[in-house]
Amino acid sequence: MIILGIETSCDETAAAVVEDGTTVLSNVVASQVDIHARYGGVVPEVASRQHVLTIIPVVTQSLMQAGVTWSDIEGVAVTMGPGLAGSLLIGVNTAKALAFSRSLPFLGINHLEGHIYAGWLTQINPESNPGFPLLCLVASGGHTDLILMEGHGRFTLLGRTRDDAAGEAFDKAARLLGLGYPGGPAIQRAAEGVVSKQRLPRAWMRGTLDFSFSGVKTALLHRAEEHGLYPSPAQGPFQEKLIQEMAAAFQESLVDVLVTKTLAAAEQYRVKGVLLGGGVIANLRLRERIIKDSSLPVIVPPVNLCTDNAAMIASCSTFHFIKGERHTFDLDVLPSLQLG
Ligand code: KG4
Ligand code: ZN
Repeated sequence: MIILGIETSCDETAAAVVEDGTTVLSNVVASQVDIHARYGGVVPEVASRQHVLTIIPVVTQSLMQAGVTWSDIEGVAVTMGPGLAGSLLIGVNTAKALAFSRSLPFLGINHLEGHIYAGWLTQINPESNPGFPLLCLVASGGHTDLILMEGHGRFTLLGRTRDDAAGEAFDKAARLLGLGYPGGPAIQRAAEGVVSKQRLPRAWMRGTLDFSFSGVKTALLHRAEEHGLYPSPAQGPFQEKLIQEMAAAFQESLVDVLVTKTLAAAEQYRVKGVLLGGGVIANLRLRERIIKDSSLPVIVPPVNLCTDNAAMIASCSTFHFIKGERHTFDLDVLPSLQLG
């Protein structure tokens, strides 16, 4: 089954062609990062306007790169939520128009479920598939969710952030340290190879599988103020080293909590494996830590499939399409959609 996937929930305009839910034939992502960087974050109105300009060329390129024509496509899938309403609308309406004009089955997909299916694109093959149940950590700019997956389409939300999402915390911390946007990669770069003498707190939220990242962010702010690095980071080798140490301490705090709580949940629910997805899973320190600490198989998608892309949407949709699921063309966007 060959599916065209479309993703426009935030600031990446993406289209991909995926065969049988597992083989990526093409995966095109037009990033708006340079446009939003000057504002220090995503500007929703600018994002949707940019999607309008880019979506058709991106879809065309995804077909060309896959070496397929419209007659090969057997379904069109699109992210229906969660995300920015104006951005989602561009993808959903484009997907509807394409499916309608080609008389193809059409399906809206939950973006968070999509992040989980990035794991199917490279690593879940018959030999390495640990089987269900899986414990999934989806950590992105808007979500930090621990989800029990007992089968395709069978999800239970076990824990979530009570304040900032992990990616949001990385973005705010980077802004505070003057490291730029997007924050996750900037903090990772600054922290690379640094053995930090700094230590920042961890909010364990004991007795729950929930997360909280606003405390560590405030602790970082106070530490930066104490060292005279905030509001205006002073320039010089000494300050630069301090900023690197704080970036490393911040990264370590988030990684420690994310990895420890994910593995505790995996043990509690006696799962067969751990599956990670979402932009924050691109973090190299997190990837290294969880693989080292886990006694269970860990499915970690390659970095380009952790951040937003349409291949994960196409993959996810395949498991719904084969069950005969379809949406009608009155489907609306769901900006606050949850999973489980
Ligand atoms: O999944 P994603 O691409 O978009 C959303 O669905 O939100 O995640 C974006 C988030 C951003 O907050 C970004 O800073 C974070 O993922 N991120 C990272 C890294 N790369 C992206 N966080 C930590 N380390 C990274 N290497
Ligand atoms: Zn995402």
